[in-house]
Amino acid sequence: MKNTLFDLSDSVAVVIGGTGALGGAMASALGEAGARVAVAGRNKERGQARRDEITKAGGEAEFFPVDASSRESLHALRQAITEKFGNPTTLVNAAGGNDPRVTVTADHAFENITAEDWNENFNLNLVGGVLLPCQEFGPAMCAAGRGSIINIASVSAHLPLSRVVAYSAAKAAVLNLSSFLSREWARQGVRVNTITPGFFPAEQNKRLLFNEDGTPTERGRSILNHTPMGRLGKADELAGATVFLASDAASSFITGTDIRVDGGFLSQTI
Ligand SMILES: NC(=O)c1ccc[n+]([C@@H]2O[C@H](COP(=O)([O-])OP(=O)(O)OC[C@H]3O[C@@H](n4cnc5c(N)ncnc54)[C@H](OP(=O)(O)O)[C@@H]3O)[C@@H](O)[C@H]2O)c1
Repeated sequence: MKNTLFDLSDSVAVVIGGTGALGGAMASALGEAGARVAVAGRNKERGQARRDEITKAGGEAEFFPVDASSRESLHALRQAITEKFGNPTTLVNAAGGNDPRVTVTADHAFENITAEDWNENFNLNLVGGVLLPCQEFGPAMCAAGRGSIINIASVSAHLPLSRVVAYSAAKAAVLNLSSFLSREWARQGVRVNTITPGFFPAEQNKRLLFNEDGTPTERGRSILNHTPMGRLGKADELAGATVFLASDAASSFITGTDIRVDGGFLSQTI
């Protein structure tokens, strides 16, 4: 018997940040489940490589350039996707990341972080990362009566990690905004949920986790010691949560929730 719970063949999925490590893996998972996938981001090479990977595996995908910090660019993205694939039904917001300029270190004290640098990182993670894409795609999904929005939070949204201050504040706001939108759009058939990844190797955090020779940094070791499963995540371990939340059949009554994919990180105290 065909399993229809996780069949996305009637879905059009947009993954903003589909050019990155986690967004890319989420795009692949959605493609494998049958969705037509718009891989969106700024980096054409990585976007096209991800598109090729999905199509080679038998899926349907295209790369669409977008600057998530620009509402105009997001509007053009939505139009281009709608022309190519039809109305988007799933939106994954995976653009974001930390920045050394807003990271507290022995040489860079909290009080020396400039408002400009703070705003840039905060805006990347909250405004371009979540607010503007939701403003652009959410109302169209509401008008169509169908949509699943998946925003990416962080363990640092729940209890701030040391050092990553603007990022943590922005990710906490991602949880809050997602709850707000889940309530606003529930009656219009649009579900809004978050995924909280633990620690996964990616471009934006590799200097924090690894030395140049590939061994874990002191912080990397401390993260591993604090993770009950004792290891980092692999990007494709986000596939299950992504397809589950994207599927109207599998998660029809689920909105405003957060799924932790963190190897137990947030359950660990002493
Ligand atoms: N890796 C982890 O351990 C971890 C843990 C918790 C949460 N997260 C979150 O997961 C998400 C994905 O991060 P990642 O770890 O996969 O890092 P990554 O590989 O560095 O990906 C970051 C993505 O953000 C995109 N992006 C940044 N600015 C953009 C803009 N203005 N317009 C469009 N796209 C933009 C990048 O696209 P281009 O390269 O095309 O510009 C890239 O695809 C982020 O929200 C991150 O905070 C990651």
